[in-house]
Amino acid sequence: MTVSVLFVCLGNICRSPTAEVVFRQRVQAAGLEDRIRIDSAGTGDWHIGKAPDPRTRSAAQRRGYQMDSLRARQVSARDFDDFDVVLAMDDANLADLQAMRPAQFGGVLGRFLDYARHASVREVPDPYYGGEDGFDRVLDLIEDGAEGLLDSLRERL
Ligand code: 4NP
Repeated sequence: MTVSVLFVCLGNICRSPTAEVVFRQRVQAAGLEDRIRIDSAGTGDWHIGKAPDPRTRSAAQRRGYQMDSLRARQVSARDFDDFDVVLAMDDANLADLQAMRPAQFGGVLGRFLDYARHASVREVPDPYYGGEDGFDRVLDLIEDGAEGLLDSLRERL
């Protein structure tokens, strides 16, 4: 049994690529990389083909995550055929995904931070127009969500 997970934010240059690399690191550490497929995408089209935001990359690098090779792409209805679990970073992303969700989708569409065990919030705040500390906050929330998500998926594998 394998499971595929897609992380979705607005631009696919800050939050969802961070979730992709953090979750991949946890999955690899657990030896589950052959069982869990991971990708990320954005609901918007402004940054298609771009590398993650430099502020996101340097915050990630300070914690040992490498994301230079990622490139932004836009989510599409086809992603609901290709992924079992589609997780939104905030409620606006979730509403956009619910609007494009095909009727026959039998997987999970939800909020990523619903898997977090410590965070007191349920949305990963958009760091794009904020200060530098926003990027560390994104990482804190995503590490929390990634650990809870991995434990939840272990039960399905
Ligand atoms: P992300 O952050 O959704 O976490 O990738 C953003 C990136 C770009 C923009 C907004 C949010 N933007 O407006 O261009």
